[in-house]
Order: sequence, then structure tokens, then C-alpha cells
Amino acid sequence: MKLLIRGGRVIDPENNIDGILDVLIENNKIKAIGRDIPVNGLRDIINAEGKIVSPGFIDIHVHLRDPGYEYKEDIITGSKSAAAGGFTTICCMPNTDPVIHDGVVAKYVLNRSREVGLVDILPIGSITRNLEGEELSEMAELAEAGCVAFSDDGNPVMRSDVMRHALDYVRMLNLPIFSHCEDLNLSRNGLVHEGYYSTLYGLQGIPAQAEDVMVARDVGLATLTGARLHVCHISTIGSLQIIKEAKTAGAHVTCEVTPHHLTLTGEIVGDYDPDTKVNPPLRTEAHVKALVDALNKGIIDCIATDHAPHNIECKDCEYSEASTGISGLETAVPVIMDKLVNVGLLSITDMIRLFTVGPCRVLGIDPVRLSPGYTADITIIDPNEVRRVNPATFYSKGKNTPFKGMELRGWPWMTIKGGRIIAREGHLVQSMSLGSQ
Ligand code: DOR
Ligand code: ZN
Repeated sequence: MKLLIRGGRVIDPENNIDGILDVLIENNKIKAIGRDIPVNGLRDIINAEGKIVSPGFIDIHVHLRDPGYEYKEDIITGSKSAAAGGFTTICCMPNTDPVIHDGVVAKYVLNRSREVGLVDILPIGSITRNLEGEELSEMAELAEAGCVAFSDDGNPVMRSDVMRHALDYVRMLNLPIFSHCEDLNLSRNGLVHEGYYSTLYGLQGIPAQAEDVMVARDVGLATLTGARLHVCHISTIGSLQIIKEAKTAGAHVTCEVTPHHLTLTGEIVGDYDPDTKVNPPLRTEAHVKALVDALNKGIIDCIATDHAPHNIECKDCEYSEASTGISGLETAVPVIMDKLVNVGLLSITDMIRLFTVGPCRVLGIDPVRLSPGYTADITIIDPNEVRRVNPATFYSKGKNTPFKGMELRGWPWMTIKGGRIIAREGHLVQSMSLGSQ
């Protein structure tokens, strides 16, 4: 089977390619890349003029809720959501029920995602049993089963001795810890960022320092143990300063930022819409500016969605009662395109790097690229497509997004996984044989 993508602007950061080129796919792999590849005999030709052709996007922070909370999301709807959002690979967090804390649960996720067969799903095992922060999970077994990292995300590991032991352990396995940095003693009962707007709106605040102090602790422990630490969803100036210094000092530290922390502030909580409730909370203009600046300076390694789908009952309630989280897979690309790339705050090449090579570096895997012989995972973006965010059309079961109703320019146009077109203009292309949901 051959497929030719013609005349798009191909941006491949790993190969330093940026030009109007054709990409030929044969038998699930990249066969050739170049100018005016002959079309003779080819039936499947995609006209990509005016589009941006990139290696497949990777999201290393996704909550799939399966097993246990399938009413919020499951592996089928999560896979569809990823494909529609332009992602060809995702990593899923272990805060499921049961928790991904042993090989059996990890294998369930892997087997189920292979059955679905839409995008690659790489499971993340928990650091501690039941995310309780006390006893380490079966880390070697999780690694053996195919977990690519460890995290108690959703919860911090409050005990420093437990975190230290976990880091010692993952160093032997040569896998990273994805740390949710939050000091619960400072954030407890908090709903929004602590500052002017928490006072104005009368909502309990979470100080930026609840994040900063844990980033400092974990960076210290990573330095002590020599292990790989990845800091999830950073949102503060303090975190950035600590991570920048740690990187300069040579520690194995990486970090990610979400589209919402890059583009929204806590001011929007004013209408008490629980879809703005997220952990860490939306911060201030100064934090947002610092995050965008750090993105450009290479201090932040990748953009990750922290896709956190919730059922309507968990969001259609009092602000204080609502669950935290934003459904992010289907808005990540247009949010970054519209709010950062189109207004000159981030180059398109850097955006692509942050969605492709960056995540690979965090995981320590061979960076995705469009070289002959590599798997044909490709994301094509239409930079001119203008569409309004309509959660009712999401493939995700989570309709919880503060971006709803926004008109955004620059959307994923096509997602190709292993040479197969899986999504086009926000719609899945191949129907799956797995029945409903
Ligand atoms: O807002 C959040 N939601 N932050 C987290 O860390 C966890 C996530 C979830 O699982 O819903
Ligand atoms: Zn998360």
C-alpha cells in the first residue's frame, strides 16, 4: 500500500527539515521524502498544499479512566479523542480503579489499547500502591509489563523518604518519575490560585508556593539519587526557576506545561464555571508570561494536555464540589496554534518540537522523525482552518473545557498512524469493529 502526501510544508525538527516537500509512505513506513516524487501509478494522493506536515504528535499526560471510571472515559473514546486531536501516541496515567500498580493492570491497558488499535498507548505505572503515598508499587513488574514511567499524578507523594526510595528504584530501571508537585499542607481545601482573584471571588486559594516547594524537594531528591525526574503540569515562576537551575547544574530533570496554563488565567473563574477548575489552578498573567517565555527558551521540554475528562455530574455543581480537570486532547493543537503561534509568541517549528521530539526526550526514546524506514506516524495541520470549540462534538466523554465556544484558527487536518489515515478534519476515518463506546 502506497500513500503520497503532496506539496505540504514539511517540518521535521529532528532532521532539521522545513520546506515544501512530498512524503511517500509504503507499507506503514516512510519510504521517501523529497521534491516532486513521481505519482505514476499511485492511487492514494493527498494534496497537502497550504498544510503543515509533521511527525505524529505525542501527549505524555492523559487520563484515560479505564479501568474503573469508564463513565468518564474509556480506552476507545480516549483513543478516538487522541486521533481526532492530532495525536498518534499518548501516555496514560495510573489513577484508575484498580490503580495501575502492578503488571496485571498495566497489561490490561496495553492489551485493550492494542485491541482498539487506533493510537499507541503507553501506560504509566503508579509510584505507590493505590496512590496512597506509603508503599512502593510493583515497579520492576510494571516496567517489565511495558510501563514507560511512574507517577502518582492527581496526588503528590507527600513523604520525602518514599519519594527518595522511588527515585532510587527507577534509577535502576532507567525510567523517569513523573511528579505531581503539590504540598497538600499548603493547598488543602484550595480551589483557585491564591491572590487578587481568589479574594475577589471569595474562593479558597492555593499559593504558587504549594507547587514550588515540592518542585524544589523533588529536584533535590533527583540530584541526590541521580534518577530521572519529570515535573508534570508546571504552572509557576518558582518552578521554572528551580528547574532552570537544576538543568544548568546537570540534573536529569525535565518538565511539561499544559495548553490551559499557557493561555488562561484565574480571572476567568469569575463566572464560577467549574470547567475552569483544574489542579494546579489557573494562575496569573505574570506566571503565564513566564511559562511562554520558558517555552521559547527551551526550559520546558514539552506540551502535554493533562487530558482529565469528567462526567457531567462532577462538573455541573457548586464550584467547591466540582472535580478538577480539563478535557484537553481535542483542543490542544488549536489552542496553541491560535493563542501562541498565530500571534507570534511561539514559532510553528518550536510548537512541533514540543509535541514530538520533546516528549520523546522526556521518555528517553528514539525521537520521531520523517526518515525513510521510520513508522509513518504523521500529523497534518491546517493553519487556516477556523472552527469554534464545541464539546458536544468531542469524541471524548469529557465535555469539560473552559475553551468551549471559542473560535480558534489552526486545527489538526489529518492524523496518520502507521501509514493509515485515522482522522480527518476532526472526524475519525475508519470505523472500528469494537462496537459501541
Ligand atoms: O486537574 C487535574 N485533574 N489535575 C490532576 O492532577 C489530576 C486530574 C484528574 O485525574 O482528574
Ligand atoms: Zn494529570
